[in-house]
Amino acid sequence: MATEVESREWYIASYAPIGVPNSDHIKLRTVTLSLRAECIPDNHVAFQILYVSIDPYMRTQLSGLSLPQIPLGQVIRALGIGKVIRSKDAKFSEGDLVLSPFFPVAEFGVMPSNLLQKINPADGVSLLDHLSCLGLPGITAWVGIEKIGNAKEGSNVFISAAAGGVGIIAGQLAKVKGCRVVGSVGSDDKVKLLKEECGYDEAFNYRIETDYDAALTKYFPDGIDVYFDNVGGKMLEAVLNHVNHGARIALCGMISEYNKVWTEREGVRNLLNMVGKEVMMKGFMVGSYYNHFEEIIKEMEVHLKEGKIKSKHKIYNGIESFLESLASLFSSSNVGKVILQVAS
Ligand SMILES: NC(=O)c1ccc[n+]([C@@H]2O[C@H](COP(=O)([O-])OP(=O)(O)OC[C@H]3O[C@@H](n4cnc5c(N)ncnc54)[C@H](OP(=O)(O)O)[C@@H]3O)[C@@H](O)[C@H]2O)c1
Repeated sequence: MATEVESREWYIASYAPIGVPNSDHIKLRTVTLSLRAECIPDNHVAFQILYVSIDPYMRTQLSGLSLPQIPLGQVIRALGIGKVIRSKDAKFSEGDLVLSPFFPVAEFGVMPSNLLQKINPADGVSLLDHLSCLGLPGITAWVGIEKIGNAKEGSNVFISAAAGGVGIIAGQLAKVKGCRVVGSVGSDDKVKLLKEECGYDEAFNYRIETDYDAALTKYFPDGIDVYFDNVGGKMLEAVLNHVNHGARIALCGMISEYNKVWTEREGVRNLLNMVGKEVMMKGFMVGSYYNHFEEIIKEMEVHLKEGKIKSKHKIYNGIESFLESLASLFSSSNVGKVILQVAS
């Protein structure tokens, strides 16, 4: 085994408060990591990164507005899966597969072992599913549909960014619960996929059906009971014209607004509709449900193994593809969970 490795890693070169981050903001550099036993602290492991989950929240690290602010020059952190190559903790052995939300976006790294969770390869779940259906997207979908949306059999459920990492699972979960589910997406191929492969009752392309109010009139003749909001902005405003009495709106994210300063963001003019119809709108962060992760993952694993929920993955290959994979989140080019494969 080598005593040192060269590792390419992505770091923050300058902040990107507006616009899609580009090569001015994040750059690749090569560092040398020593794998000699005396260079790895006790209760730390050295690992090779296999997969990195590419998520919209990563943009926050680059904004320069997060608190505490992430210093320039710092490596970008992400959820990922790695393989242990050296261990100074008896609980981890070489070859163990591990998951962590704090991996560097890099080829190799060294980290405290208490930030790592072992993956059991015998559980019959693919590594990719650990990052999608049984990972943060699946848990986020569950919280929005079950906990906030309180979706019931027969509920009319609307999901935006419905073919994305979170949306594609949220819609299928709502179908498992017996809801009528409609999604909005940015391409006709995604409309087809949702209806033909993911069990959605209806889906529409918001880039073609640009009058959202008219689209929602057409697809929700009986109004909306649950809205799983991934995009915010004009779509959220249109939804408020179609909510039923007592509707629930789970504010998961607002990706249409992330690349703008707040003064340029879309305002929502019809919040008044929430009053008379006693609508509940609640933002949530999946991390706040950490104590429920184990039970949620168990439930999602049953749906996955029974084939009731299928995951879709969009894989970018090689550490050098990170920038392209991150920027792709702000277009309509991907289907399913975006993942960077760093090694196999
Ligand atoms: N609250 C939480 O704890 C939590 C956790 C995870 C994710 N999230 C949020 O959940 C949302 C979905 O995340 P994800 O990981 O599943 O990402 P994703 O859906 O895989 O990727 C983003 C998708 O959003 C759509 N999009 C991009 N720019 C848009 C725009 N300007 N207007 C409308 N749609 C646009 C695109 O699909 P189409 O254009 O084809 O629809 C794109 O594929 C994001 O807002 C994210 O921040 C929140």
